[in-house]
Amino acid sequence: MTERDDAGEELVHLPDNHHGLHYMAFMAHVSRVRDSKRYLEIGVSQGHLLSQIHTEVAIAVDPALQISFNVCENKTIVTFVQVPSDTFFAEYNYAALAKGKPDLIFLDGMHTFEYLLRDFYNAEAISTNRTLIVLHDCMPLNAEMAERNAKTSAEIGKHSRFPYHWTGDVWKIIPILQAYRPDLRVVYVDCPPTGLVCVTNLDPSSRVLEDGYFQIVDAFRARDNDLRAIDAMYGTITITPSSRITNDSDLTLYFKG
Ligand SMILES: C[S@@+](CC[C@H](N)C(=O)[O-])C[C@H]1O[C@@H](n2cnc3c(N)ncnc32)[C@H](O)[C@@H]1O
Repeated sequence: MTERDDAGEELVHLPDNHHGLHYMAFMAHVSRVRDSKRYLEIGVSQGHLLSQIHTEVAIAVDPALQISFNVCENKTIVTFVQVPSDTFFAEYNYAALAKGKPDLIFLDGMHTFEYLLRDFYNAEAISTNRTLIVLHDCMPLNAEMAERNAKTSAEIGKHSRFPYHWTGDVWKIIPILQAYRPDLRVVYVDCPPTGLVCVTNLDPSSRVLEDGYFQIVDAFRARDNDLRAIDAMYGTITITPSSRITNDSDLTLYFKG
């Protein structure tokens, strides 16, 4: 059945769900098959995803780590840095900690678009041209999960089809990258619960997002964060089935390098 917004208008692009591989299984696969010696995860929490990543060196950043089980399997060196991502990028040197630049980065920290925008350009700056940056939670399935405040999202979304799936408004990174960084290679993947946005063809020397930060934040803060706006965003992207990527022996069809 076609979804409708509050005014009863049809939402023509919004998917009913994401039907692919769970994001952790997808990330585990990518870390295994794409040369991923060095990994960075921003927003780690209990380490459920971290535990599934295959890599030599993992740097795990979160101001409130909640690790309570062995997350070190399939890794030689795991370093936890218990600070907010802004502090990590400003005060710690990834390449020195990991003895090289990251091959794979997962951004899953604070779920408001201005934080993700900073995490993205800071992550790109420490990357190489072949690093894969994966953004979590940018493909919400209703307006309740996209509410900027986590507590409000939990309250208004508790009786929705997707209770307690807080994405915040990080979906706005999609139109931001489309507008400001058309040079990036961006692949949108149908991984439940809330999609993955995979970005390659990075340019670590680019300052477009950092220099334009306040102008971008003002412009996109003013944009609606409702179902109609989210539906319109879906109208601008093509979602790739995760199975197509994981069944393909040649990931360079999707990700540079
Ligand atoms: C959804 S959880 C991460 C889950 C994890 N990536 C996984 O898939 O297993 C989000 C985490 O982001 C962390 N976080 C919140 N603000 C942050 C910030 N400014 N920098 C880094 N992490 C942050 C929270 O403490 C929380 O643990």
